[in-house]
Amino acid sequence: MNQPYKFVFALLVVLGLALTACGGGGAERLPQESKSEPAPAQEQKAEPAAPAGDAVAGKKVYDSVCIACHGPDAKGIEGLGKDLTTSEFVAQKSDQELVEFIKVGRTPDDPLNTTGVAMPPKGGNPALTDEDLMNVVAFIRSIHQ
Ligand code: HEC
Repeated sequence: MNQPYKFVFALLVVLGLALTACGGGGAERLPQESKSEPAPAQEQKAEPAAPAGDAVAGKKVYDSVCIACHGPDAKGIEGLGKDLTTSEFVAQKSDQELVEFIKVGRTPDDPLNTTGVAMPPKGGNPALTDEDLMNVVAFIRSIHQ
């Protein structure tokens, strides 16, 4: 190998080393803070789709209010409340009509009253909401024979 080639070879070696030492060059760039837009506040209107009541929730309403007169199995208690499991009235009325009935109850002088005992409005618990009543109607439906 003569002089000029040796020189070029040496130059290439030096260059190669220099490049390797720089790790291929290019300073590492710090990742840019991504300025992500804050998610827009979600407009969620939690409106229940189906108006039909929830029998499981309705059992809780029944057990806290209606059970006192209609009994633990809704078979009625003599002198207090009627059997709801075999009630013709329950069978004939729509859910909405039953809700309306429970809201007002039935006085002893009501022509439909067969026991002479009053069913108080909302079973005597004015705190019950329309939803509670829809639920309790769903529960009564679920145990009606
Ligand atoms: C204080 C006692 C009492 C409570 C509490 C009560 N009821 Fe009654 N309920 C009665 C009586 C008494 C009758 C029957 C009146 C009659 O002779 O027609 C009745 C009748 C009914 C009837 C009509 C049955 C039929 O065949 O005519 C339904 C339905 C009914 N109750 C549902 C409910 C529900 C649901 C609740 C709970 C939210 C409830 N009741 C709480 C006393 C009560």
